[in-house]
Amino acid sequence: MLEMRGVTKAFGSTVANDSIDLELRKGEIHGLLGENGAGKSTLVKILYGLYKADEGEIYIDGEPAGITTPSDAVDRGIGMVHQHFMLVPTLSVAENVVLGAEPGQGPRLDIAAAERAVRDLSERYGLRVDPTANVGHLSVGVQQRVEVLKTLYRDARILVLDEPTAVLTPQETDELFTVLRGFVDEGLSIILITHKLGELLGVSDRITVIRDGKVVDTVVTSETDEAELARLMVGREVVLQVAKEDVEAGDVRMEASDLIVDGASGEAVSGVGLEIRSGEILGVAGVDGNGQVELAEALAGVRQPRSGRIELAGEDVTALDSAAMRARGLAYVPEDRGGKGLVGEFTLAENFVLKTYRRSMFSKIGWLLRNAIRAFARRRIDAFDVRPPNPQASAASLSGGNQQKVIVARELAGEPDVLIANQPTRGVDVGAIEFIHGQLLEQRERGAAILLISLELDEIRQLADRIAVMYDGRIVGEIDAADATDEQLGLWMAGRGGPDEDQPTGDDRVRS
Ligand SMILES: Nc1ncnc2c1ncn2[C@@H]1O[C@H](COP(=O)(O)OP(=O)(O)OP(=O)(O)O)[C@@H](O)[C@H]1O
Ligand SMILES: [Mg+2]
Repeated sequence: MLEMRGVTKAFGSTVANDSIDLELRKGEIHGLLGENGAGKSTLVKILYGLYKADEGEIYIDGEPAGITTPSDAVDRGIGMVHQHFMLVPTLSVAENVVLGAEPGQGPRLDIAAAERAVRDLSERYGLRVDPTANVGHLSVGVQQRVEVLKTLYRDARILVLDEPTAVLTPQETDELFTVLRGFVDEGLSIILITHKLGELLGVSDRITVIRDGKVVDTVVTSETDEAELARLMVGREVVLQVAKEDVEAGDVRMEASDLIVDGASGEAVSGVGLEIRSGEILGVAGVDGNGQVELAEALAGVRQPRSGRIELAGEDVTALDSAAMRARGLAYVPEDRGGKGLVGEFTLAENFVLKTYRRSMFSKIGWLLRNAIRAFARRRIDAFDVRPPNPQASAASLSGGNQQKVIVARELAGEPDVLIANQPTRGVDVGAIEFIHGQLLEQRERGAAILLISLELDEIRQLADRIAVMYDGRIVGEIDAADATDEQLGLWMAGRGGPDEDQPTGDDRVRS
C-alpha cells in the first residue's frame, strides 16, 4: 500500500532519518518503535507533508506519491492524528469533522448533512460520539475519536497515529484498539507509534524498530516479545522491573489537610488530606481528570487552594507561591511539559535554570553567569542522556521524550526534600523509563518525600510505598503498596468500594 524508500532528513547536524525503508501492507497495523529522538515523528511528518525529506521516495500503490503538503497527503488517502489535537473547541463535533471539506454547495454549511455524515461514520466504525456536542466539553478520549472521524470523513486509507494512547485511560485505549482492528478488517492500513510495548504486542501485525534514525529491523509481532523489542530499540538489555530497596520512612515532610481546590470548571479537589514522609513514595492513582492536576498544583504552590492547609516540615506554607515553595526544598514535575514545564523558544541551558537563575551559582549582581549555566546544563544533559546533548539547542527542537527528560533532570538536580511528580515518564521510551524510575528511587533512598501521580497503574505499583486513589476530587482509598491488588485499585478508580459507599456511583459525566 505504501512504501518509503531511503528517506533521509537532517536538522542541522542531527540526522533524524537516515535512509529509512518502510513498507506498509494493506490491512495491517504497523508499529513504529524507537527511543526518544530516534526519528519516528519526523518520519511520519514527512509522510504527511509537514516536513520535506532531503532524500528518498514515497510510493502509494506503487506510484510516486508526490506529497509536499498535508493537503497532498489527504488527497492520497493519508490521515494523521497528532498527539496535540487540532480541534476548534467552540465548534460542534460535526462542524469540526467537516471543517475545510464541508458538504453541500455555496458558503452556507449544511449542518444537517454534516451531522448525518458523522453519525453514519461513527456507527459504521463504532466510534461513539454525539455529532452535536460541543468539542470544548469533551474528554480527551472522545476528542481523539473526533480526530479519527475527521480522517475517515476525508476517505483516509492510511491512518497514522503518533502516540495516541499517551493521554488515554486503559479503557479508552482498549476501545481505540478495537476500533483500529475494525479499520484494518475493512482494508485500511495503520501506522501506530507508541512507547508502550505491551500495547504494541497486543494490537500490531508487524513492528519496525528505529534507532538513531536508522531502521534496525522489522519484526512480526507474533514472533517477538517485550525483552527483544526493548533490546532492539535501545541496543542493550533493558531491565523492565526496577529493584526497590527497603527504606525506613522518616518524619513527615509534607502534610495537607482538608484541601479544597478550584479548577478551570469549578471545584476539582474536594477535601483531600495526605502525609508524605522522608524516604517514602506516595503514589496517587486514578483516571485522568479526577483532580490530580489541581492537587499537584496546589501542593507545589502553583495554584492557590480555596481552603485547607499545607505544611512543609511543620511550617504552614498554604499561602506561599511556587518560588517560595522551591526555596523551601520542593521540586515539581508538571504533567504538561509543553505548557508548564519548558519554554520552547529558550535554549536547554536557559530552561535548566528557568526557576533558579537568581541563585548565586548562576548570577552575580543581576548578571547571568552564562558559562556556569552552560556547564551545569551540560552535566545534567549527560546524566540524563538528553539527545542531542547540546545546551544551546532550543527546547522546542527536542523530541517529546527528550523534553520530558530535561524537566526531570532539572527538578531532581537540587536534591529536593519534597518532590511532586505528575506523570514523570509520559512519552518517555523504555530505556529512559528505567532510568527515571531508578532516579526516583535514588531520591527516595536519599530521604526525599515523593508524591508520584501517574495514570499508569503499573508505574505506581512498582515505585510507591503507599497508594492513594483519587476519584472525583477525593481520595477514596489508601493502601500499602504491598497489600494492593489490581482489583481493589480498579474498583476505587471507578469510584466504587470507597469509604463513601452511599455516594452516587457509576457517574460517567465528561470532565475536562
Ligand atoms: N524541527 C526540528 N528542528 C531541529 N531538530 C529537530 C526538529 N524536529 C526533530 N528534531 C530532531 O530530530 C530527532 C528526531 O526527532 P523525532 O521527534 O522524530 O523523535 P521521536 O522518535 O518522535 O522521539 P519521541 O519518542 O521522543 O517523540 C531528534 O534528535 C530531534 O531533536
Ligand atoms: Mg515523537
